[in-house]
Amino acid sequence: MTGGPAQGAETAGEVTALIVAAGSGQRLGAGVAKALVPVGGRPMYEWSLAACLAASRIGRVVIAVPPGSKAEFGDPEAEMVDGGATRSQSVAAGLELVNTGLVLVHDAARPLVTPELIDGAIEALEGDPASDAVIAAAPVTDTIKSVGEAGEVIETLDRSQLRSVQTPQVFRADALRRAIASGDVENATDDAFLIESAGGRVAVLDAPATNIKVTVPSDVELAEFLLGNV
Ligand code: CTP
Ligand code: MG
Repeated sequence: MTGGPAQGAETAGEVTALIVAAGSGQRLGAGVAKALVPVGGRPMYEWSLAACLAASRIGRVVIAVPPGSKAEFGDPEAEMVDGGATRSQSVAAGLELVNTGLVLVHDAARPLVTPELIDGAIEALEGDPASDAVIAAAPVTDTIKSVGEAGEVIETLDRSQLRSVQTPQVFRADALRRAIASGDVENATDDAFLIESAGGRVAVLDAPATNIKVTVPSDVELAEFLLGNV
């Protein structure tokens, strides 16, 4: 980088956190919204909310909740909005409340997120005017192979180029709005995919592999262990 900040660079300021918590948690199979499932003695989403509130750069927290369940979340420190049928629709609903230049999107299903990772991702995007987003990701430690329909190995991928992508993901809010409006939201498993599809630049911030996503029942125990709450 030479010279001053390029167009699109943000000055340091408060950032809105959007916690997406509107999923039903089918793979967890708890019978209630995954974000409300107890982890270490509190509803899962509260860990992410606490990390956002403790981060020095977050000024406001919006939570996208399952439609009709605002009262079950009912947290005075955050604003609730009804989410949508897909993750991207939940993000789009939350974005309507966002009026800051940067927005940090985080899965309620990742209770191990830390204030340091949140602030680090925001500062990484602020320091990288060429990028539209910065995403947290961990190096891949397993060997990854692509496998065909008959169960046969097609190829072994170059692990050094692979990352396991997490949240938080920080975006220039206008770029994310445009990407959602024009993107393949049905098939987007994260929001950065939509920026990539729209030709935007996404930068990666190394993050700890312990920032797991609670997806299946055994992940609850793993999260509690990692949180030191067994
Ligand atoms: N999410 C959301 N709105 C949706 C779907 C998902 O806000 N319509 C959120 C989830 O609440 C979660 C994050 O996106 O915090 C990651 O999604 P995932 O782990 O897939 O959660 P669920 O969709 O709830 O789980 P499942 O796919 O097993 O049903
Ligand atoms: Mg899902």
